[in-house]
Amino acid sequence: MRIMSGSGSYFVFLIILWGLLSVYLTQKGEKEAHKLAQFEDWIRTTGAWVHSNVTLSTFPQGNGLKAASDLRENTKILTIPVDLQISRDSMIDSLRVRVKNSPVNTDTFWEIISGLEDTEIISVGLVIEECFGGKSKFYPFLAILPPQTPQLLFTWNQKELEYLQDNQLTGIAKDTARRLEYVWTEILRSNVLQNIVTNRSCLSLQSFRRYYAITLSHAMRLPDNIPRIVPMAEQINHAPSSQFDSTFSTFHVRNEKDGSISVYTDRSVKAGEQIFEEYDRLDNSLHLLQFGFVSQDNPYHCVVLRLVSPTPNWDGTACVRQDRTYVPDNEVDLLVAKYTDNIQCLKSLRSFDDEGIHETCSSSAFPQTDHNADLDHKWVRNAARRDPRSDPSLLKEMERQLEDIMGGSTMSDRELDPERLALAIQFRIEDAKLVIQLASMEASEPDETNDKEEL
Ligand SMILES: *[C@@H]1O[C@H](CO)[C@@H](O)[C@H](O)[C@H]1NC(C)=O
Ligand SMILES: *[C@@H]1O[C@H](CO)[C@@H](O)[C@H](O)[C@H]1NC(C)=O
Repeated sequence: MRIMSGSGSYFVFLIILWGLLSVYLTQKGEKEAHKLAQFEDWIRTTGAWVHSNVTLSTFPQGNGLKAASDLRENTKILTIPVDLQISRDSMIDSLRVRVKNSPVNTDTFWEIISGLEDTEIISVGLVIEECFGGKSKFYPFLAILPPQTPQLLFTWNQKELEYLQDNQLTGIAKDTARRLEYVWTEILRSNVLQNIVTNRSCLSLQSFRRYYAITLSHAMRLPDNIPRIVPMAEQINHAPSSQFDSTFSTFHVRNEKDGSISVYTDRSVKAGEQIFEEYDRLDNSLHLLQFGFVSQDNPYHCVVLRLVSPTPNWDGTACVRQDRTYVPDNEVDLLVAKYTDNIQCLKSLRSFDDEGIHETCSSSAFPQTDHNADLDHKWVRNAARRDPRSDPSLLKEMERQLEDIMGGSTMSDRELDPERLALAIQFRIEDAKLVIQLASMEASEPDETNDKEEL
């Protein structure tokens, strides 16, 4: 009897718990839906133009845009005016207004700000916008941003970074983390921000880091290379395009007259489906640094290999894709440059000296040839075979590790975040898959026209 009544009350307790939980989840869901609705209302009533069959919606991996009717490729879905865009200029303007009545001298503050990178200024600006809460014009946008900091590499701790087994990426991540801490300390030292907010607890390094991660992962760069967060447009998620020559700037167009930015679909979308776009044809390292994700079987991923140097003015370092091409991308150039021992280049990278980077980095890691040129497949294959990542048993081992982490096997070390760990292992798996693929090329693979000419 006792057992019966005991389990009976246990059952009642469970039902109550379940009831409370579902009320909590419903409320949470309603709150989220309310925020999305408020955001959409804001964007549609403040001068932006949004296609009537495009809505903001929640998907398993987060917010995204959804098509309510079939959309053909190249359909204009959004136009966002300049005053809703978050950029260096708009954040400086907003700071100026807020700092105007500062009781302390603001010269040092402005001196620091003017020396910052665009993305850093935007991040400072967003921290302050958040401090002003509902008084900020960007409040409806801030309210729909993820509360957690996106998993960009600079947010990982030392132990998590070690799982990448990549000293260069680890170095970049730590440089960024150090730089942000330094910038934030300097800004607070000028004592201006503390005097313009009512509650200083919003001024934290943690908030600055979160907004920096959001800025890097949400800002778009058009050919003018100025980062801008374009609300609503930044809610579109990435998926590679199947089109051979698709480029981001074809589908994201800035109107030079009024500074507004229009977004077009880069593929056709079926009614009820999520709208995706291709951000860039980037390597996984850059995705991890800039967005905090790893794509599987990314055709634009490249692995850094050490080829036996074929020319005297090149050290043989190359980032090779599955089609054996170099990556004709400025940012990948820089990344590859980090794998060289060029001291001048490393110095420029560390001090964020753009001019120095251009002068010293790009040429060091590349042969002075056309970046698009195919590499000789024998060089590539031999370099891949020498590379320890070509061992298939290592790949198997990592796949098992990833399964364990995804399966929720309890982490013994509380300093390790399972999501980041999974990203690190996924990253290495993708590298290994590519190295194995390159290592298994036939010596005279007759799959490409220029190979045939050789034969
Ligand atoms: C939106 O969808 C409806 C119904 O599917 C359709 O009749 C309408 O033309 C669409 N609107 C636009 C602007 O395409
Ligand atoms: C300041 O804001 C924090 C949360 O951001 C809150 O916990 C705290 O109570 C606030 N302090 C005052 C004095 O309003």
